[in-house]
Amino acid sequence: MRYFGNNIKLLVNNLVVSYTDNGPDEAPVIIFIHGFPLNKTMWDNQVDALKEDYRVISYNIRGHGDSEAGNEEFSIELFVSDLLHFMDALKIDKSSLCGLSMGGYIALNAIENHPGRFEALVLSDTHCIADPPKVNQKRLDTIESIREFGVEKYVDDSIVHLFAPKSFTPLKKTILDVKEMILNTSEQSLSKTLLALSLRKATCNKLPEITIPVLFIVGEDDEITPPETSEFMHEKIKNSTLHIISHAGHLCNLENPGEFNEQLMTFFALVYKKHEIVHTGGSTSAFTQIMNRMNMLLTFKSI
Ligand code: MLT
Repeated sequence: MRYFGNNIKLLVNNLVVSYTDNGPDEAPVIIFIHGFPLNKTMWDNQVDALKEDYRVISYNIRGHGDSEAGNEEFSIELFVSDLLHFMDALKIDKSSLCGLSMGGYIALNAIENHPGRFEALVLSDTHCIADPPKVNQKRLDTIESIREFGVEKYVDDSIVHLFAPKSFTPLKKTILDVKEMILNTSEQSLSKTLLALSLRKATCNKLPEITIPVLFIVGEDDEITPPETSEFMHEKIKNSTLHIISHAGHLCNLENPGEFNEQLMTFFALVYKKHEIVHTGGSTSAFTQIMNRMNMLLTFKSI
């Protein structure tokens, strides 16, 4: 039996995971994976935009939001195992993934190891490299700093890197919401996740093996994973397209949701609806709409 709504609890991999599940029963499934150290609510705007046409699910990674943390050390592999168990528990054989930053690391690792379970991929503000030594050391220093000075200081230190400088004045409420998400993450989960991120393996060599459609989205002013990192990955995946979001930094889905959602809708319309409309002789207006969207996607290499 399927539960609908925004705060559903499910036992997955021996811990209680909190998730949202909206949209029609038989529709294609899109699972949203949040960045660090946020939670599923960062996707609320995208869930609203897509839930008419797709079954849209967002969940809290262990230790984030109100999902339990469990006792094990965190790793990207453990997060992927949670994702696969989550899909199994919901009886979802195949889905698309949309991951931002850490969510993208998880999505890339999941595709690499379980390619048969995924139909399309949106990778936002993420990259495929492992941490260079300097970044690695910074994460270890941050763990020390959180231990010594607490989460509040970490919020102030990290927030300036998550948004484009020009977002701070117009997006005061969004920035407060993100600060709240970080403050609500326990010191232990922050440290365990930072360690997991510092130990993650590169996935770049495997990118050419990805054959499902991929959309890269990145904020033009993202300083954590700048557009060049998405361009690098886009070059390695034949069936991929790249869109750079204007007026946005690392959290581009929150900073420019209109442009972000338009890209998602165009991409998933191509992935899931093209054949349906062509083969069933759908209405001219629907067909014209899709053709217009295809024309917009001139950078698509081979969908
Ligand atoms: C994120 O947004 O998930 C983080 O910036 C990822 C990272 O620190 O590597």
